[in-house]
Amino acid sequence: MGQSREVVVAAVGDLAPGTTRKFLLPTAGEPTEAFLVNVDGALHAWVNRCRHVAMTMDWVEGRFLDESGRYVVCATHGALYEPDTGRCVSGPPCGRFLVRVPLRVDGDRVVATVPEEL
Ligand code: FES
Repeated sequence: MGQSREVVVAAVGDLAPGTTRKFLLPTAGEPTEAFLVNVDGALHAWVNRCRHVAMTMDWVEGRFLDESGRYVVCATHGALYEPDTGRCVSGPPCGRFLVRVPLRVDGDRVVATVPEEL
């Protein structure tokens, strides 16, 4: 059998609105970093890879939101992404989208699926 394409990343209610948490996706070879973000009570997850240069974005380990709490900010050149749509609204990769990690709730667990393109 192949490697599982799913991973439990949180319990329901773990993350408060406006907070983020990093997790690893079970991809071939090295695991791939991704992160959860709670936007007004709704969880979203994105691959931790900027669409400008393929680098991780957290400016402090596990911290992704800017000071306003409204945008995911890339630590390298300051690109801003909407945390609920993944769309870049400012910076070099403007108009491009982060890679979404599909989430589903299973009982009291939040389960992430490795995106197709990884
Ligand atoms: S690497 Fe993210 S803005 Fe340049």
